[in-house]
Amino acid sequence: MDSARVQRLLRQHLHTDALLGVDAVPTHADATTATPAAEAAPVVTQTAPAPPLRPAPPPRSATATSAAPARLTPAPPPIQLDTNDDKPTALRKLREALAQDQRVLDKLMPGTQLVFGEGDPDAEIMFIGEGAGEDEARTGRPFVGRAGQLLDNMIKAMGLQREQVYITNCVHFRPPGNRTPTPDEIDLGWPYMIGQVQVVQPKAIVALGGTSAKALLNTSTGITRLRGRWHEFDAVSPPIALMPTFHPAFLLRSYTRENRAKVWADLCAVLERLGKQPPKRD
Ligand code: URA
Repeated sequence: MDSARVQRLLRQHLHTDALLGVDAVPTHADATTATPAAEAAPVVTQTAPAPPLRPAPPPRSATATSAAPARLTPAPPPIQLDTNDDKPTALRKLREALAQDQRVLDKLMPGTQLVFGEGDPDAEIMFIGEGAGEDEARTGRPFVGRAGQLLDNMIKAMGLQREQVYITNCVHFRPPGNRTPTPDEIDLGWPYMIGQVQVVQPKAIVALGGTSAKALLNTSTGITRLRGRWHEFDAVSPPIALMPTFHPAFLLRSYTRENRAKVWADLCAVLERLGKQPPKRD
């Protein structure tokens, strides 16, 4: 490879690293750890009047994405929203309904909390992860641990603040032992996750990781094949554009430049879809 090309590639890599908040150079090409610097920002919710909430969605079906649907049984029915409620009220009611759902409460391990979504009720972008981890179950807030700090950096790299987006999970409690949520656990969270999507009505959803992407798209296809192209989240009406990308926790484990560049490309595609330019950095 000639030196001009090496220099150009190096510049691209450094640019991507800077955009993703990487403030250290790995000592070898396949470094698997990182120390993201960002602090989780406080949440600001808006109380501005909101447009009417969407009516209940039609029954969920497999998307065009999926030759092999993950779900063979119908998805749990959505929670009926009061279309007269403004968005903060509707989200508060959903949160209260979750806190009273005995089947969900039965799943709560001692010393852990429910983790509902948070962010701007009018957000254009909604990030949906799989389920609460240890830090989230301790604090009751989504994505506040190491993966959350990297997600904050990803959001900042997009030229946004955490409080300008909406962040939630498929599962609103911490699965025992931090394991991947089971289909039954995803079903328990489904009406509340769908409810949040219906209320916020984002223009784009970013599915963080394979578990979230498979659940949202009702497919058994893996994240490596799903990411990098647009899908439709058709469990709400009208459907919402959905971009799957790698989970920040995966990125922390497999902290290669290639993976970081892929995530950054996915986030740029989201910005472009919303008519926004990815921010330029020096
Ligand atoms: N991983 C997730 O999927 N969600 C969180 O909230 C935290 C870590």
